[in-house]
Amino acid sequence: MSKQVVAVDKAFLEKLAGFSDFLKEGLKELKAKKEPKKKRVTRKPSYKASDEDLKQARETIPPQWAKSLKTILFPQQKIEARLKEMAAEISHDYQGKEILAVGLLTGCIMFQMNLLKYLTVPYKLDFIKVSSYGSGTQSSGNVRLKKDLSMDPMGKHILITEDLIDTGKTLAFIAKYFSDKKCASVKIACLLSKEARRDQDIDLEVDYCGFECPDEFVVGYGMDFAEHYRALPFVGVLKEEAFMKK
Ligand code: PRP
Repeated sequence: MSKQVVAVDKAFLEKLAGFSDFLKEGLKELKAKKEPKKKRVTRKPSYKASDEDLKQARETIPPQWAKSLKTILFPQQKIEARLKEMAAEISHDYQGKEILAVGLLTGCIMFQMNLLKYLTVPYKLDFIKVSSYGSGTQSSGNVRLKKDLSMDPMGKHILITEDLIDTGKTLAFIAKYFSDKKCASVKIACLLSKEARRDQDIDLEVDYCGFECPDEFVVGYGMDFAEHYRALPFVGVLKEEAFMKK
């Protein structure tokens, strides 16, 4: 082997060694960078019920309430089918974990129980009550804590269950409430979301949402007007005169 060939090979090998160091550094940097968080695409199917749904529903509820119903937005079968889908998604996401399902009283009651009954991961239940609406139809925006949790949420995987997100002020308050509680995670599941009504200053990420809801005064499936209608097994809309006269 000539001296010249040896010199070329040596230079080449030195370059290769330098390149390998460069690759190692690059790999280290890549590992250090965190995977970007996947943006969740929440499926929010909307559904308009038929006159037949309304007729059937009217026959099974107190006649004075039936008179006040304008329409059915989401009949029971549609809600249950959607809850099964949501529960499957939640069970998948919480594999190997236990959930602390925190219901926001009182509206959460039917949604929470009917969602949780389809879960295939373990869960515990707790409740919190805040208030902003009183007996009117518009949120005062002044959210107050009326009943605190019974359990310590520290280290737990919290799943907040909420019937309806309107302006988002209630959940913004709840998010703040949990922010210093050292929970393992905090996610939100809601039955209905009125996206059009969301307060512009509130940036809320809803993890699991049943249906997008039109801007109507809805009752049933946990939701009330002056404490009436909560246990209706569907989501209906009241005639205007039914809530304007109060
Ligand atoms: C309703 C609903 C949500 C809140 C949403 O509760 O159940 O908790 O309003 O409104 P926001 O997004 O504008 O804050 P409400 O205060 O009527 O109490 P309830 O659950 O006892 O019905």
